[in-house]
Formats: sequence, structure tokens, C-alpha cells
Amino acid sequence: MKILVTGSYGQLGRSLFNTLNSNIEIFWTGRNIPFKGNGFYLDICDRINLKGLISLHDPDILINLAAMTNVDFCEKNSKLAREINTNGVRNICDTFKGKIIQLSTDYVFDGKNGPYVEEDETSPLSVYGKTKLEAEKIIKSHNPDNLIIRGNVLYDNCLNSRASFLNWVVKSLKEKIPINVVDDQINNPTWTQSMAKIIGLCVDKEISGIYHWGDAEFVSRYKFAKMIAKHYNLKMELIHPKSTEELGQIAPRPLKSGLLSERIAKILDIQQPSINECLNQILPK
Ligand SMILES: NC(=O)c1ccc[n+]([C@@H]2O[C@H](COP(=O)([O-])OP(=O)(O)OC[C@H]3O[C@@H](n4cnc5c(N)ncnc54)[C@H](OP(=O)(O)O)[C@@H]3O)[C@@H](O)[C@H]2O)c1
Repeated sequence: MKILVTGSYGQLGRSLFNTLNSNIEIFWTGRNIPFKGNGFYLDICDRINLKGLISLHDPDILINLAAMTNVDFCEKNSKLAREINTNGVRNICDTFKGKIIQLSTDYVFDGKNGPYVEEDETSPLSVYGKTKLEAEKIIKSHNPDNLIIRGNVLYDNCLNSRASFLNWVVKSLKEKIPINVVDDQINNPTWTQSMAKIIGLCVDKEISGIYHWGDAEFVSRYKFAKMIAKHYNLKMELIHPKSTEELGQIAPRPLKSGLLSERIAKILDIQQPSINECLNQILPK
């Protein structure tokens, strides 16, 4: 089997490196390939680039991790966000007829009454959420074998990605920089390795449809930041709780969110890990 992965060099892509079954031939692609990376240049907004790479490698499955993930940046640059998160996915579907695995987000919900199951009504608040929901619709109508996995607050020790909350907290506290963290946004933060494992199992078991995956605990960002500080013996006093309103983030956020993941957990016969189990494996204390 051959798999092509887009956006491979972000934080989730890096976790997939160690997870996908070793007898699968994998083509890692991205716009910025690290010096020692063994990948291929691919911008999902460039149809000619996409067509060329897909006809060259002829993959059976395409895993699309490429996205503009900075939620506030998306809000300020809605045209670019739509170009990458929605039109990029349309380009993939127009070029590739095989199975696509698309990563989506709990930001497709409004956060009024989460945590959410798969068929709960979507109602995104932000440009990021809207562009990802539009992408879901394109993916659903493209091929019945396609799989959408929604995740939330993915984290890892990934210095190369600005998407990692863990790195921001650890780096700030190590440098004794006080941080303001929202205490009214609830999610179930998910280690990228945990998500990568699910993607690998879904490939092996040929799962299609739409599923949620999030780790075991539902916590506020503030509580999550404190758990990180405690785990690594960093100064918790530097973490200041703020309400979303006080913090004034550019993009509106779903507050009571998070993803109920029992459905896929049962199918794959797997348990969600706790935050401390994950932190133990990510960085030595
Ligand atoms: N982070 C989260 O909390 C979270 C939560 C739920 C779902 N997700 C989804 O999970 C997926 C992976 O996210 P992540 O956490 O690994 O984020 P990430 O670290 O920001 O990775 C996204 C990757 O996409 C690449 N990319 C952006 N525009 C591209 C384009 N036009 N063509 C090709 N590659 C492009 C980026 O690299 P360059 O900019 O260097 O090209 C980056 O490597 C995304 O679909 C995201 O929406 C993430």
C-alpha cells in the first residue's frame, strides 16, 4: 500500500513518522522540508504541483494534514485561510480519486453545550472553523471511503510548530515569562502521538466516515497549563487565569467544547490516555 501525506512536517505529521505501519510505502510532503527530511515539495493550493506528485507516486490513500492552523491568523486573513483549508481540500479531491483521510476540528461546533458526539449540530464561530467545516463537506461528497477525524488541542514537544501549546507553556515558564491562559475554554487536549496511533489503526482497519478522537480528560486551558507546569516542576504562579472575554483573542472560540470519542474507541478497542500518562512519555521530567 502507498500513502501520501500532506503537511507532514507540522506537529501531527512528525508523530505519524513513527506510527504508520512499516510495510506501507509513504510519501512525506510539505512546503518546508527540513534539511534532513526525505520529502517532496507540495503546496495543496498549487493544482499543477498536486497533479504531478499524485500521478508520479499513484498513492492508494492521501492523508491531508496541511492546513492554516493559527486560529487568530485565519480570522485576520480569511481569504488565505479559505484558500488553504477549503480550496486546498477541493484541489486534492479534484486531483485524487482514492481514499482521503482529513483532519478536522472541534471548532466546527459553537461550544454552547459540548463535549460533542459526531452527529451533533455544527455551527462554527471562527473563520478557521468555517473553512474546516466547508472542507468536511467536500470530503464527504468526494468518496464514500473517505475518513474525517476531528481532533482538539493537539500538543507535543514540537519546537518547529507554533501550533504546540505545550512548547509555549514550557518555554515561557522556563524563561520566567508570565503567561495569561483562558480558564473558560474546555477541551480534551490530545497528544499528537495518540492521534497518530488512531490514524494508523484506521488505515489498518479501513475505517471510513466521521469520528472524534480526544484524550481522556476534559480541562480548561488554564488547568492544562498548570498540569504541564506541575509535571515539569515549573513555576505555576507565572500562569494567570483569564476569561476569554478578558483575554480578547481575535477569533471567537467555542467555550464548552471537547470531543466524545467512545465510538471510535470501541471500534478500535482502544482506551484514551490521560494527560499525565502522555506528559510522562513526551519530555523527561
Ligand atoms: N493543532 C491542533 O490543535 C489541531 C486540532 C484539531 C485539528 N487539527 C488539524 O490537524 C491537522 C494537523 O495540524 P497540526 O497540529 O500538525 O498543525 P501544524 O503544526 O500547523 O501543521 C500544519 C502543516 O500544514 C502545512 N501547510 C500549511 N499550508 C500548506 C499548504 N498550502 N500546502 C501544504 N502544506 C501546508 C504547514 O507547513 P508550512 O506552513 O511550513 O507549509 C504545517 O506543516 C490540520 O489539518 C489541523 O487543522 C489541529
